[in-house]
Amino acid sequence: MATDSMGVVWRMPPQPIPMPMMLPGLMGAFPGVTPFLPDPGRDPAMLPEAVFREVVEMADGDTLRLEAGFVRRTIGMRTFTMYGFNGQYPGPLIRVPQGAEIVVLFTNNIDLPTAVHWHGVRLENQFDGVPGVTQDPVEPGESFMYRVHFRDAGLYWYHPHHREDIQQDLGLYGNMLVDAPAPDYYGPANGEDFLMLDDLLVDEAGLFPWGREAAIQTLMGRFGNQLLVSGEPRWETTVRRGEVRRLYLTNVANTRTFNLVLEGADLKLVGADVSKFERETFVSNVVLAPAQRYIVDARFEEPGRYALLNPIQAIDHFNGRFYPHTDTLGLVTVLDEPVEEDHGAAFSTLREHADVIEDIDRYRAEFGRPVDHELELTARVGDLPSDIVAVMALDTLYFPPVEWTDAMPMMNYLSTSENLTWVMRDTRTGKENRDIDWRFTEGDVLKIRIHNQRRSFHPMQHPIHIHGQRFLVLSRDGVPSDNLAWKDTTVIPVGSTFDILLEASNSGRWMAHCHIAEHLEAGMSMVFTVDPG
Ligand code: C2O
Ligand code: CU
Repeated sequence: MATDSMGVVWRMPPQPIPMPMMLPGLMGAFPGVTPFLPDPGRDPAMLPEAVFREVVEMADGDTLRLEAGFVRRTIGMRTFTMYGFNGQYPGPLIRVPQGAEIVVLFTNNIDLPTAVHWHGVRLENQFDGVPGVTQDPVEPGESFMYRVHFRDAGLYWYHPHHREDIQQDLGLYGNMLVDAPAPDYYGPANGEDFLMLDDLLVDEAGLFPWGREAAIQTLMGRFGNQLLVSGEPRWETTVRRGEVRRLYLTNVANTRTFNLVLEGADLKLVGADVSKFERETFVSNVVLAPAQRYIVDARFEEPGRYALLNPIQAIDHFNGRFYPHTDTLGLVTVLDEPVEEDHGAAFSTLREHADVIEDIDRYRAEFGRPVDHELELTARVGDLPSDIVAVMALDTLYFPPVEWTDAMPMMNYLSTSENLTWVMRDTRTGKENRDIDWRFTEGDVLKIRIHNQRRSFHPMQHPIHIHGQRFLVLSRDGVPSDNLAWKDTTVIPVGSTFDILLEASNSGRWMAHCHIAEHLEAGMSMVFTVDPG
């Protein structure tokens, strides 16, 4: 339907960067699903304005009440009806010591069924928050109790696992930081910031509608045209000269991969999803795909104003041209006053993390084992408008390893989870997506090879996430990784083959999927079982 019962209508998608991608036959076409906006009949002025997130420090045994509800958000000069956890944007930042277990009493007060997933946390299976796999969806007005046990130190996040293409996009996400007992676990810093990177798609009329019965924009995922850092168009902070800031980075966007550069700062890469790296390294930029986290220390030596940038290579698929595009995400003012406690010496020392190396040592003998399972990532087209399919066929001469932006907004707009299927295929059994039924036992170590098919229909990178376990990325296209960290999400560029070593450490029925919200909606998920050891 072009219009829903509340009068929400489809409109042409905004063009993020000028490109001649409009096909004559597609003018006026709209996706074959009803447009969805949150509570369109409500005047946002009647809603409470969301407040910036609070830090909730919790100890073992504590209980948190968490409510998903409607909020008023003001972004730039504009007001929208959106969702929030506990009336906040992002949701509360939960900070716990490693080993703690907390209870979360969750209530759903939005207009869609939902559930909360504790991304990356190796908790008990029944609390993983995946409707259809570990629980029934929590209907509007209903509640669910989660027990969240934090086994590993690191940076995590929580988000809905039910139509997350809508719900997470509308603001339902929050960070969790699990502190290790060692006070010098990460080395000294003068301060810390939690940056949740996101984007939102808006036009003159407001939030661009989502699909009600099925997700739209399933081809490339939903790229926003308003970039957000922790819910704000811009991150601004002031530091003193020589200050070391620890940045906890989380990508919570539906599909956008960020490439972060912080002008004027030296960046030290310290940690990833579930652990520190074996060795700290200096980096010039940090690439984060959806759901990935990195912990980075930044040191500012010279006074001045420096931007946090997202420089990318955009592609004009029609003409096969690349062109650079840069968005500014933040601004750091470095005062001409030296920081009181100067950690410069510690900062310039690259540490080796013996704890991580020893933990991984237990698995090195398995690095050379034969491949246990192989997955191929590809797409299948249903009844996409034939004009699109024809143009897409022309398009296969050039496909970047990573799509940084929505180069084909019109085609993307018309693709839904009904006319396009994204596929994870077990190449040995031929089984696909939810028909795959891998079975492991706690204690098993498995090598899984994942190949992202270049010759698929409009190939794209896929951030693959495995629930309830942790893994190592052993190699990319045959090149062994020389600095490992435990991960729960890794992004496979177009045409690449990754070998990962999965530690089956947590029993239950778990999901593995692409973390582009629209690809997940379009089928790109599987379930595997780990039996108790
Ligand atoms: Cu971040 Cu299956 O989830
Ligand atoms: Cu994907």
